[in-house]
Amino acid sequence: MVKDLSLAERTKSMTMTCAEGRYILVAGGAGYIGSHAVIALLERGYQVLVVDDLSTGRRELLQPGCSLEEGDLGDPEFIRGVFARYPVAAVMHFAAFSIVPESVSDPVKYYRNNVAKTVTLLDAMLDAGCKVFILSSTAAVYGEPERTPIEEGMPTRPTNPYGRSKLMIEQILADVAAARPLHYTSLRYFNAAGADPGLRAGELHEPETHLIPIILQVAAEIRPSVTVFGTDYPTHDGSCIRDYIHVTDLAEAHLLALDHLLGGGSSGVYNLGNGTGFSVLEVIETARRVTGRKVHLVEGPRRPGDPAVLVASSARIARDLGWRPRHQELEQIIDTAWRWTLSR
Ligand code: UFG
Repeated sequence: MVKDLSLAERTKSMTMTCAEGRYILVAGGAGYIGSHAVIALLERGYQVLVVDDLSTGRRELLQPGCSLEEGDLGDPEFIRGVFARYPVAAVMHFAAFSIVPESVSDPVKYYRNNVAKTVTLLDAMLDAGCKVFILSSTAAVYGEPERTPIEEGMPTRPTNPYGRSKLMIEQILADVAAARPLHYTSLRYFNAAGADPGLRAGELHEPETHLIPIILQVAAEIRPSVTVFGTDYPTHDGSCIRDYIHVTDLAEAHLLALDHLLGGGSSGVYNLGNGTGFSVLEVIETARRVTGRKVHLVEGPRRPGDPAVLVASSARIARDLGWRPRHQELEQIIDTAWRWTLSR
């Protein structure tokens, strides 16, 4: 009897066959978003090879069941050796520096790490015969948008070296794909937040600069207060509006992109957000409700380079890849991050 498989199941079994016996190389798999992608890959039965220099990645975020090659992606000898030792079906590339103010004060660090090392990785990968690449990109490629929700075809005018470094990689990918057999997906994340609901991974930055973990550290009495960067923006309450997306939903998008590309799908660039914006003050209020704790806030000046409103249209990835977020509610996002904070 022929089993009646859904389209998703057929695609999955087909692409698993494409990857059979081969690894998915996760560059930066010991980082915040990379570790969640590793969880998703392992759950689907993929063999996972993490390549990480553990400079910002954390050993405790490495997932049981994956292999690790510790080293520098930008070292051609090292990365070529990795491709020589492991058969790799696809690369997911999360390894990058991502602190916007640091990118302004030390742009060379960002162009070297985010751009130059990616070129070395791409070259080694293509020489080894691996053709599939998934990039962590960012809403920062848009800069100050003309309107929201932001669609992929809108102008890309990054306002800082971090955003520019990611846009440069996107442009390099397009050029390389025109010249060599490369199939890629670039995923432009809006504000990644939350933690694996099973608490196998979560946000662990040092120093922490992101809003939700900082608020939760205040709730947990690890910090005295959170400073609201700007209360005079042209928004309903004067604070900045962002589109927060659960990290597990981001990880799921990588799996869909992988299935798509391994199944012979074409290259593409996609936004990833929930399409709903929350102001900084609303996030703080929601965190108070979710945690039942006090969160002391201090009003501060604007942080340079912060656009007032960043909200995504994710219609393209929903249409092309069938992506549907499963942890859309801000309460859910904060709840998982809170349980992660308490578990540390
Ligand atoms: N914020 C505060 N106080 C804080 C920290 C943040 O008010 O202590 C505000 C920021 O000004 C911003 C919002 O909270 O309005 C979110 O800030 P995050 O630092 O958490 O995130 P960003 O929106 O600055 O950055 C995210 C990604 C970057 C990416 C950027 C795209 O982390 O990698 O989106 O704009 F570049």
